[in-house]
Order: sequence, then C-alpha cells, then structure tokens
Amino acid sequence: MIDREKVLAALEGYDLSDARIGMVASHSALDTCDGAVSEGFRTLAVCQQGRDRTFANYFRSQRDASGRLLRGVVDEVEMVDRFSRLMEPSLQSSLAERNVLFVPNRSFVSYCGIDAVEEDFALPIVGSRNMLRSEERGDERDYYWILEKAGLPYPKKVEDPEDIDSLTIIKVHHKVKTLERGFFTASSPEQFHLKSKELIAQGVIDEDFLEDARMEQYIIGPVFNLDFFHSPLEEKGERIELLGVDWRFESSLDGYVRLPAGQQASLEEDGVLPEYTVCGHNSATLRESLLEKAFELAELYVKAAEKHYAPGVLGPFCLQTCVDKDLNFYIYDVAPRIGGGTNVHMAVGHPYGNALWRTEMSTGRRLAMEVRRAIEQERVEEIVT
Ligand SMILES: Nc1ncnc2c1ncn2[C@@H]1O[C@H](COP(=O)(O)OP(=O)(O)OP(=O)(O)O)[C@@H](O)[C@H]1O
Ligand SMILES: [Mg+2]
Repeated sequence: MIDREKVLAALEGYDLSDARIGMVASHSALDTCDGAVSEGFRTLAVCQQGRDRTFANYFRSQRDASGRLLRGVVDEVEMVDRFSRLMEPSLQSSLAERNVLFVPNRSFVSYCGIDAVEEDFALPIVGSRNMLRSEERGDERDYYWILEKAGLPYPKKVEDPEDIDSLTIIKVHHKVKTLERGFFTASSPEQFHLKSKELIAQGVIDEDFLEDARMEQYIIGPVFNLDFFHSPLEEKGERIELLGVDWRFESSLDGYVRLPAGQQASLEEDGVLPEYTVCGHNSATLRESLLEKAFELAELYVKAAEKHYAPGVLGPFCLQTCVDKDLNFYIYDVAPRIGGGTNVHMAVGHPYGNALWRTEMSTGRRLAMEVRRAIEQERVEEIVT
C-alpha cells in the first residue's frame, strides 16, 4: 500500500478552495459529476479516447462568466489513450496541480488494476483505498471474508460440483468479454456438467473455469442494491445513511424471463443460456419492516470494516442483496465505493436520500457534500486515503 505520508503530502500541496472532483469517465461518473457541480465543485473526467463523447461532448458543461452552470456536468476533460495512463507520475502531477480529489469507481480499479491503485496512485482518493481489493472475488480477504467476520448473511458456498443438490449459481468470468460474467445455474451435478460443457463449447467460459469459480446457493427472490453512505464526519446524527435502492437490468436474463416458460425451456434445450451482463438500472424501495434489517446489515459491515480494514468505510458503499421468501437478506456482493447503479438517482435523488436530507440527494451529491464539509471543517485527511 502506498505510504500515507505520500498521499498527505500531495494533499498538503492542494489549494482546497479550488478543489476539483476527478474520476475515471465510466461506471458512475455522471452521478459523481452531477453531485459535485450541485455542491459547487468543478469536475474533471479522465476520458479514454473512443469512449469519451458522453462526457467530453454530450454532458460537457457550459458556465457563464460568473461560473454559474448553464448546461452539463463535466467541466474538464483529461483525455488519455487508455485509462491505465493514470498511473503515470506526469499525469498525476498535472492532476495534483489542479487540486483533484479522486473518486474511485469500479472502472478505475478494473482498467488500472488493483495493484497499481494500491501502490502507484499518489493522488488523494476520496474513500477507502485498502478496501477496494475486497472486491476481487477469490482473494484471501475478499468481501466474503468480511461478511463472515461481520456475521452477515450470504448465500451458502458450494465447495464441489458433486455437492450441488439445489439451485446453485456458478460465478465464472466470461472468457471473451473479460470484464463480464459467464454465470450459469444448475440444480444437480449432471446439470452442472451439461451446462458447463455447453458454455465451454460456445466459448463463453474457459475449460479450467472451476479454478476461479464461486459456487453458491441461488437465492430465489428480488435483488436490491442498497446504496449506503458512511460519514466519519457526522457528529450529531447517525453516521450510516441509506441513500437509495437500485436493481439491475441484465442481458440476456431479462429478455429470457419475459418469454413464456415453454419458450424458455426450448431455448435452454438449444443451449441458449441467459447471461447476466448489466446494461441498466431501476429504482426501488423496500417495505418498511425490511429497512430496520437493512440498516443492521450496514452497521455490521461498517463495524467489521473498521476493525479489519482501518480506517474502514469512508463514504458510499453498496450491499448487493437478494431477499428470500421469509424476508431474509442475503448479501451476494459488496462494493466498498460508489455503486454502479447510482445514476438511477442522479440529479433527482431517491426517496430515502431526499427524505433524509430534505433536498435531492443522490450518492454523487452526498459524496461531494462530504468533501465540502470536510474542506469547511479542515478535516479532508479524514476522508481520503
Ligand atoms: N446467490 C445469488 N442468488 C441469486 N442471484 C444471484 C446470486 N449471486 C448473484 N446473483 C445474480 O447475479 C448478478 C451478478 O452477481 P454479482 O454482483 O455477484 O456479479 P459480479 O461479477 O460482481 O458483477 P458486477 O461486477 O456487475 O456486480 C446479480 O445482479 C444477481 O442478479
Ligand atoms: Mg456485483
């Protein structure tokens, strides 16, 4: 892990009255930018050539002479030929000169690599740098490890394909679309072998897919991504906030389930299995009796993170859950940073975030509000790593 002194030295050189919120232009960048400009910051998006136009053109900001925003949310664009250029010291110096406080999203880690993020990125990261690795499923201290330590519920692990005796999800990397999933389900060892052979033949998964696979109980029930925020700065109210709840549109699964059962079965016979590629999000609320349980999950997670990953969760985090027929939550994934579905409440907020803050409160805005408060209270070093 990069020396904390190095990060604090970079921060020391900043003119925080002119701080910019920076991020990799992908994933949740629009929400981060929208929230930042709403809280009075300028934004800087690191764009990769060829996938830049959303940020560099269509959501580019225009301000009047006094700096008032007339249009858009992206003030400055730093164009690179690939995102991993962010690890070059010269680019980092140039961002530091512009007082960039960097918000880590999943794309940042996926495209730059967790080792580089931990060792080579010398700008202040708003959030917990050391927790980002817990997302690398299969690592020794991954999020399952934290869930176990925290006593949090997660889908039961299936150790061996021969042990499959009920509906099980097999989580495998996609062979070709390397950042995507080659997930499949099976409810018996025979089905497991049949389906995996099919997917290998289709080139969706690798021959030796089992080496990095996670097999676990399939929870039959709706999926809720709980977009929480933990504020180390809060002194009067609760430090944990539920800002929103989102759920995903996944392709081809969503198309699959909109077909009559007979057609689903014949697709499966033809070897057309649903994939779980995220392509959009929607907003949701929970029945009120579940909210209490949701907060309990967040409390336990934050406490375990504080203990095992000091300083713990700083800012947004997302518990990805399924709820079974007896209204039990199961956490199947954890994002220790801004979630991928927060664009769903960008600019308009979410019933929970808005109810709490009495204004439109998205995750992006809450993040920026924390930065603003930290600057005002001269406590920025408490929210960066
Ligand atoms: N145990 C489970 N029971 C039922 N559905 C599950 C389970 N685990 C995952 N899923 C489904 O698979 C989808 C993706 O799961 P998961 O988040 O674990 O994958 P991922 O590789 O982390 O993907 P991403 O990075 O996009 O979050 C979920 O949105 C959910 O629909
Ligand atoms: Mg996930």
